[in-house]
Amino acid sequence: VTRRYNLVFIGFGNVGRALASLLLGRTEQLRAEYGIEWRLTGVASRRSGWLANPAGMDVAALLEGSVREVAPARAAGVEEWLSASEAQVLFEMSSLNAATGEPAISYLAAALTHGAHAITANKGPVVHGYRALRDLAAGRQRGFRFESAVMDGAPIFSLFRTALPLASVQAFRGILNSTSNFVLSCMEAGKSLEEGVAEAQARGLAETDPSNDIDGWDSAVKVAALATVLMGVPLTPQAVQREGIRGLEAGAVRRARVEGCPYKLVCAASRIEGGVRAVVASERVTSTDPLSQVNGTSSAVQFVTDVLTGLTIVEHDPTPSTTAYGILADFVDLARL
Ligand SMILES: NC(=O)c1ccc[n+]([C@@H]2O[C@H](COP(=O)([O-])OP(=O)(O)OC[C@H]3O[C@@H](n4cnc5c(N)ncnc54)[C@H](OP(=O)(O)O)[C@@H]3O)[C@@H](O)[C@H]2O)c1
Repeated sequence: VTRRYNLVFIGFGNVGRALASLLLGRTEQLRAEYGIEWRLTGVASRRSGWLANPAGMDVAALLEGSVREVAPARAAGVEEWLSASEAQVLFEMSSLNAATGEPAISYLAAALTHGAHAITANKGPVVHGYRALRDLAAGRQRGFRFESAVMDGAPIFSLFRTALPLASVQAFRGILNSTSNFVLSCMEAGKSLEEGVAEAQARGLAETDPSNDIDGWDSAVKVAALATVLMGVPLTPQAVQREGIRGLEAGAVRRARVEGCPYKLVCAASRIEGGVRAVVASERVTSTDPLSQVNGTSSAVQFVTDVLTGLTIVEHDPTPSTTAYGILADFVDLARL
């Protein structure tokens, strides 16, 4: 049986464009292996507004930049846009709002209420809206998925949802922010923190204001997302004890690497009575610790569960395509519901 899905995108930046390319490249495989046909019927971004075309847009033209030419209709807001595009699956790929998760939470809620599945790559709605969106999805017999929000395309949430039934996460620790890890690798190679940040910016890793990464905020948001979903304890980024890499001296970082026990910005959470204790802090890890081998933009997480006492997942050198793959995997998963 073949089913055709109307897909809509909020956000057409690095990740949205990578997802459009990936979908185009996998069209035949999706049809042959999963009976999935798709067309893109809506695209929205801050600048272009709410564009809808229920007949389907020319995705290649969209990727070439003709955002306006591909859609005859422009809606006034998210609800009207979901209706005009006859949306069945929303891919929410807008910018992070770490303080509240909005407006992404409202977009995802509107999609579920409209009757579409809701998939996001954005950590904000996971940290600030997980329970409400999960319950809304369940009530509507639709799915809410967010695999790419932490560690891009690596299966973390789906691992516990499908492959590890009944497992209870007792603790985890990991390296979850690629920019700070990349800057540490630069410092080990003889650069200063500022030079490392400039190099990360030149490669498109760090934003103009790198403090989210360097001061540990991005890591704290990811720790909060993992604890909220996998440990069942709602945790805000503000509740994570947080320290970044700004205070580290380049010479000490270089010597630590030479001695085999490098500095890493380690994210950790463990169960305590009545909740979870969560910390982001730079620390020296031993040479036998798998985290000591996680360099550059790679990331890793180690879980302690009641069934598998130690499980480590390492993701090497992710790109926006890796993130897009996590989103595509969520879509294939929901299409099987
Ligand atoms: N880059 C990665 O590899 C990666 C990895 C994991 C997760 N993520 C997450 O994925 C999301 C997208 O990342 P990105 O790298 O693609 O960012 P990006 O290149 O900055 O693109 C963001 C897109 O969202 C749109 N947007 C922002 N605020 C909006 C709003 N309020 N309403 C509608 N559209 C809005 C922007 O529109 P304009 O262009 O018109 O401003 C732009 O199209 C973020 O939440 C990020 O944290 C990214």
